[in-house]
Amino acid sequence: MARRKKIYEGKAKILYEGPEPGTIVQYFKDDATAFNAQKKAVIEGKGVLNNRLSEFFMTGLAAIGVPTHFIKRLNMREQLVRQVEIIPLEVIVRNFAAGSMAKRLGMEEGTQLPRPIVEFSYKNDALGDPLVPEEYIVAFGWASQQDLDDIVAIALRVNDFLSGVMHGVGIRLVDFKIEIGRIWDNDYMRLVVADEISPDSCRLWDIETGQKLDKDVFRQDLGNLTDAYTEVARRLGVLPSNVTHAHKPKLIN
Ligand code: TMP
Ligand code: ASP
Repeated sequence: MARRKKIYEGKAKILYEGPEPGTIVQYFKDDATAFNAQKKAVIEGKGVLNNRLSEFFMTGLAAIGVPTHFIKRLNMREQLVRQVEIIPLEVIVRNFAAGSMAKRLGMEEGTQLPRPIVEFSYKNDALGDPLVPEEYIVAFGWASQQDLDDIVAIALRVNDFLSGVMHGVGIRLVDFKIEIGRIWDNDYMRLVVADEISPDSCRLWDIETGQKLDKDVFRQDLGNLTDAYTEVARRLGVLPSNVTHAHKPKLIN
């Protein structure tokens, strides 16, 4: 069988050419990085969990009419997605102060914000994904003002959906990051949620105990990352069928 073509390898995923034009196979690795890849580890089972969790969130978004790149899950580590042109922005929505916002503004982590706040970072590892004002985005042509208005509307819908789903299982959605892609149908362009939605790109705190159930467990050495993600998946009812023991997920390549 011919070897399929690798299109791109990122820090947590590999993209391969899909079976049909306009499709991509997205492979979830076990690699975890933080602080712009200064900290790295292989965390057995993470890719399997993120593949399932991203499928769960993307499918739920589609069900409420938020367009996404997701087509279907193929196996334990791969999903078929629409090929998109990624807008080079990290779209971040915050409900509570944490991470870089808490640091920048000297706020206590966990302070509820007056309303959800949407902010943008320019996706560029060499520059450390710097925060950028909307004016830069429009002036440099990364997105038009109309695109940005649509992106903010999508981000807030994603926030309402994810906050509600998480609240239902006793988890607070502190903040998250999404990426948006463009899909072209002839001359007509649509914006869709792309990349992944998983505990790698969210802050998730247990509502009762405040326990962190996201990548901060790895960033801050708070314990076993797979256990944290398994707990999120278990509460949402999306545990992969062959991960039978939380402490030792079976390695599948
Ligand atoms: P921050 O507080 O470090 O700016 O992160 C805000 C949210 O965005 C948090 O949920 C983690 C997520 N995030 C990513 O997914 N990728 C990144 O490169 C960064 C910096 C943050
Ligand atoms: N920026 C991502 C994070 O901190 C990954 C990385 O920087 O390597 O979560």
